[in-house]
Amino acid sequence: MSISIIAAIGQNRELGINNQLIWNIPSDLKFFRKITSGHTVIMGRKTFESIGKVLPKRRNIVITRNKNLQIEGVEIFNDINQALDFCKEDVFIIGGQMIYTQLIDIVDKLYLTEIEETCNADAYFPYFNKNNWNKKILSSNFENNIFYTHVLYTRK
Ligand SMILES: NC(=O)c1ccc[n+]([C@@H]2O[C@H](COP(=O)([O-])OP(=O)(O)OC[C@H]3O[C@@H](n4cnc5c(N)ncnc54)[C@H](OP(=O)(O)O)[C@@H]3O)[C@@H](O)[C@H]2O)c1
Repeated sequence: MSISIIAAIGQNRELGINNQLIWNIPSDLKFFRKITSGHTVIMGRKTFESIGKVLPKRRNIVITRNKNLQIEGVEIFNDINQALDFCKEDVFIIGGQMIYTQLIDIVDKLYLTEIEETCNADAYFPYFNKNNWNKKILSSNFENNIFYTHVLYTRK
């Protein structure tokens, strides 16, 4: 079982604002779909609300402290480590800030979309020391006037 984070971040590690994504990059959403399809995705309750639907062709797991929350097509866990223990397959951690921050120290891989922009944000990707990771550039791209790079970091 491998645990990967996937996120799109600005130059200051911006992730989102007002519980929404900051940049609209359809080809990056396509990349997200390609990488995560057929796998398990784990997300915080706020990210689930931000997406607004169950992600198709994926096992959806949502983390919340709310013991009464039920969502059709979603497995709910009140404890993030219990969710990970429960999964025997490869999983993708898809956000947001709270969830990334709690898991960055234990994940094997980071699929980061590094966007060459800055913006106001209220959710940020956690700091991580790049010296501890091997970096592989998967592709460099340009869409909607935005330059961005798909990067895969694997823990050294
Ligand atoms: N750029 C990207 O790639 C990307 C990806 C994902 C999200 N985002 C952005 O990130 C922002 C959301 O991030 P966020 O940090 O506000 O929210 P979040 O991490 O998505 O969800 C936070 C919620 O998860 C639950 N939770 C977190 N840790 C828990 C734990 N240890 N045990 C039980 N429940 C736990 C709590 O839910 P309850 O309050 O229900 O208890 C908490 O309020 C949005 O702006 C979104 O658009 C960006």
